Amino acid sequence: MQIEPFALERYFARYEFTARYLASCSDCDGLALEELLTLADDQARALWRDLRLGYTESLGHPLLRAEIASLYEGAAADDVLTGAPEELIFLAMNCLLEPGDHVIATFPAYQSLHQIAESMGCEVTRWQPDEGRGWLFDPEFVRANVHPRTKLIVANFPHNPTGALPSRAVFDEVVSIAHERGIHLFSDEMYRWLELDPGQRLPAGCEVYDKALSLSGMSKVFGLAGTRIGWLVTHDSALLARIAALKDYTTICSSAPSEILALMGLRARDRIVTRHVERIRHNLAELGQFLERRADLFACVPPRAGTICLPRLLGEVSADLFCRRAVEEAGVMIVPSSVFGWGDRHVRIGLGRAGLPEVLAKLEENLARTRF
Ligand SMILES: Cc1ncc(COP(=O)(O)O)c(C=O)c1O
Repeated sequence: MQIEPFALERYFARYEFTARYLASCSDCDGLALEELLTLADDQARALWRDLRLGYTESLGHPLLRAEIASLYEGAAADDVLTGAPEELIFLAMNCLLEPGDHVIATFPAYQSLHQIAESMGCEVTRWQPDEGRGWLFDPEFVRANVHPRTKLIVANFPHNPTGALPSRAVFDEVVSIAHERGIHLFSDEMYRWLELDPGQRLPAGCEVYDKALSLSGMSKVFGLAGTRIGWLVTHDSALLARIAALKDYTTICSSAPSEILALMGLRARDRIVTRHVERIRHNLAELGQFLERRADLFACVPPRAGTICLPRLLGEVSADLFCRRAVEEAGVMIVPSSVFGWGDRHVRIGLGRAGLPEVLAKLEENLARTRF
């Protein structure tokens, strides 16, 4: 397959470990191993102590699959396949799609959610939010664009990079469209459980539709990106078996230590997630004050969930130029919207890292000396 470079990943590869300050990360700070071990229950600690570093079960450790299933209403361990989240997108798209198929996908997006289909020779219709209406994803767009060749709807709610979270009515409408047509719904839920108002949490796709696949993982919500553990949950067992069979050509199975660490993280989820949501709230308040002080430069639709938001630069300021100057002059790495192939007016700010207030202070200092 010929595939475009993953622009966001290339951007991070360039700056993540060289820039002094990171303002655009989408994960929460990685937990320290020591801390995770202290949060672990007796069973998981014993599994860690007695762990042997061989291959693991290719569908995932049975205890991990059971723990994941318990996160979803109506799911059983057999409905779960583990893998790295990015890997699971790749595998699922390859199993779901053929050249010439039509796909409707939320856009801008984590690139693989549309790029893999495009590179396979599918036609992808980009479902874009309306910033003027609070990053509204209008389901009427999906209804108007679905047609007999449409094989798949790809939704990512809470949304990267806007922080949008549609209402239950919007989500239900998308599910209904998929259901009426009997097509699959790939529901990327990597930021689910990080709603600022938990009352607005959407159901998981797999909880409401048998042909939905819910994707989630340890990276964003749980601060355990380094485990590279994620999962797909679906009641479509034939499809899950095909995806699992394709995984024999990628990683075969997950890393043994990672599975146990992920189990520990999931079992301590209440404490971990509460802390992360508190941090996001705090960072959002700090960001709000910063944006207010620089209202001459930015406008921002507040995020409703997840770890990121997407302020707009006012006037004619180029996001590429803004980000280049931030990293070169102040050592602050910020992701411009061009990395998502989506214009040159927005910048992504990450809210999941404890150091964000300090990073914003550095940026503000630099902006005070900068003219655009
Ligand atoms: C929406 C979305 N889906 C999937 C992924 C992939 O997750 P991971 O990096 O854990 O493989 C990301 C990562 O940024 C993401 O933002």
